[in-house]
Amino acid sequence: MSTNLRWHGSHLSLEDRCRLMRQRPLTVWFTGLSGAGKSTLAFALERRLVADGGAAFVLDGDNVRHGLCSDLNFSAEARSENIRRVAEVAKLFNDAGLVSICSLISPLLRDRELARNIIGAGRYLEVYVSTPIAECERRDVKGLYAKARAGALKDFTGVDMSYEVPPRPDCQVDTSCMSIDACADVIFKAVLERQGRLDA
Ligand code: ADX
Repeated sequence: MSTNLRWHGSHLSLEDRCRLMRQRPLTVWFTGLSGAGKSTLAFALERRLVADGGAAFVLDGDNVRHGLCSDLNFSAEARSENIRRVAEVAKLFNDAGLVSICSLISPLLRDRELARNIIGAGRYLEVYVSTPIAECERRDVKGLYAKARAGALKDFTGVDMSYEVPPRPDCQVDTSCMSIDACADVIFKAVLERQGRLDA
């Protein structure tokens, strides 16, 4: 970062924003394999939060790679940069008072730690979508597992690039043995608890 910069503060405080938005901002970070159900759950959570009177927005891996991150491939370095950018945007959304919902494979522990540090531990809620690879591969919604197995797609998470299981996620759901509705219920409850809107 250049040294010829300074931070311009807003006239509104975080408390002002919380009052205006009638909620405490938070980032819900979904991690898991491709096809695990992250995007489906992220949008289901967004719908629930908004129906409940909240303000939330999904930053989805596939979507941000259409614009903000369209210059990035799937090398380890590019994935780190993808995660860093999304975490920075999520933090800005939080500063604006929104609940950010991030849905990215984010396969490496160190990159998820980076996201947690950017966003701030108190505002970061990690959801591990632990659907087993056999089920993700059986679904193969985008046909990418078949391509990767055939050698036509390199660096595919779970096939020839590793996924590091989160050791202590705030929440864990498996869409192979629970319905989307039931998983979304668990996550919604975890969000309300973190916002102090529900007794644990
Ligand atoms: S991340 O590793 O940088 O967090 P991200 O969530 O953005 O990944 O990936 C978005 C989508 O890209 C995935 O849902 C998947 O369908 C697709 N994709 C394309 N190539 C790959 C690949 N090599 N590895 C994993 N996913 C890939």
